[in-house]
Amino acid sequence: MRDKISTALEGKHMLVTGGTGSFGHAIVKELARFQPASISIFSRDEKKQYEMQHEFSHECRLRFFLGDVRDFERTREVMRGIDIVFHAAALKQVPNCEFAPFEAVRTNIVGAENLRRAAVEAGVKTVIAISTDKAVKPVNVMGMSKAIQERIMLNPTNESESTKFVCVRYGNVMGSRGSVVPLFCDYILKGEALPITHPDMTRFQLTLQEAVHLVLWATVRGESGDLWVRKMPATTIRTLGRVLAYGMTGNEEYPERIVGTRPGEKMHEVLVSEEEMWRATELEDHFLIPSWAKSQDTPGITEGAFKEYSSEDVHQLSEGELLEMLMADGWITPEHRPGPKARLSHG
Ligand SMILES: NC(=O)c1ccc[n+]([C@@H]2O[C@H](COP(=O)([O-])OP(=O)(O)OC[C@H]3O[C@@H](n4cnc5c(N)ncnc54)[C@H](OP(=O)(O)O)[C@@H]3O)[C@@H](O)[C@H]2O)c1
Repeated sequence: MRDKISTALEGKHMLVTGGTGSFGHAIVKELARFQPASISIFSRDEKKQYEMQHEFSHECRLRFFLGDVRDFERTREVMRGIDIVFHAAALKQVPNCEFAPFEAVRTNIVGAENLRRAAVEAGVKTVIAISTDKAVKPVNVMGMSKAIQERIMLNPTNESESTKFVCVRYGNVMGSRGSVVPLFCDYILKGEALPITHPDMTRFQLTLQEAVHLVLWATVRGESGDLWVRKMPATTIRTLGRVLAYGMTGNEEYPERIVGTRPGEKMHEVLVSEEEMWRATELEDHFLIPSWAKSQDTPGITEGAFKEYSSEDVHQLSEGELLEMLMADGWITPEHRPGPKARLSHG
């Protein structure tokens, strides 16, 4: 697969919208390894771009473009000469979108439509858009806006002969900006009790590196109209907090307080709904949900397997597995001196 990815990316001009974000930053790093002709980064905040320019000062193939996906003319300008687009620019915080719904509409929906139109007009070969489990049976504005983003990207009536549109959907990226891991770290460093929304609330979990690999995999494997979902484990937020606190302090009974669910939150997330299962294809590690047009000819998963793919039912990460993920991602380091981890690492 790495060879195929290499062939697909080598010598190409690429654009990463939201290239200064958690995912954007990680994929830019990875893309640079595949000998691209150029990597353009498109986002609004000049400070984040300035810092990234500094970090990547050795990388002459990076280009930085300030602008907003809400602005069609600017999106059109940055799209010129681009072969592959990774669309990661988004408003992704559930409570923020809940309190400013139309801002979510403007970035996640209007921005997606601008990007689609500009890509087709510029003759871009491939557009990969990043979606979220919150877009499935959405109960909050962020999820609703991302569900519409998926429809805009994969709408068969928008199909273009020259541009392939693929979506990738995944759950919580451990440690991404604004996620629960950096929040919990702050509490632990201050010695304060961890705020737990609900002890039984579960979330799918993957690392940034896994998210990047999934997107590159779908870039090569995906056909126009495909929505790819990776199978992934889950955990309760409480267990995640406990393991992080243990890893950072050695305390197995770190204090917590129950604060209740926030506006727009679900108890469990779903990556493939029951209705989507009717037309999905199950592979070893992924589900493929074809566009409506293609699914006319695809039988989908066979009888009796129409159950949704929910964070409540999948493999729940053991404490040891979580500890390993947090260490691999650098959230727990040797200087945290967690003490003996025999119990957790065999959990
Ligand atoms: N993090 C997760 O757990 C998770 C899970 C599933 C899916 N996803 C999806 O993955 C994608 C990337 O998420 P992330 O975690 O990397 O988010 P992030 O760290 O918040 O980054 C978002 C990026 O988008 C840019 N941006 C925001 N609004 C923009 C606009 N109107 N025009 C241009 N750029 C804009 C931001 O930069 P500026 O602020 O400078 O513009 C930033 O570079 C999103 O589509 C998100 O929905 C994330």
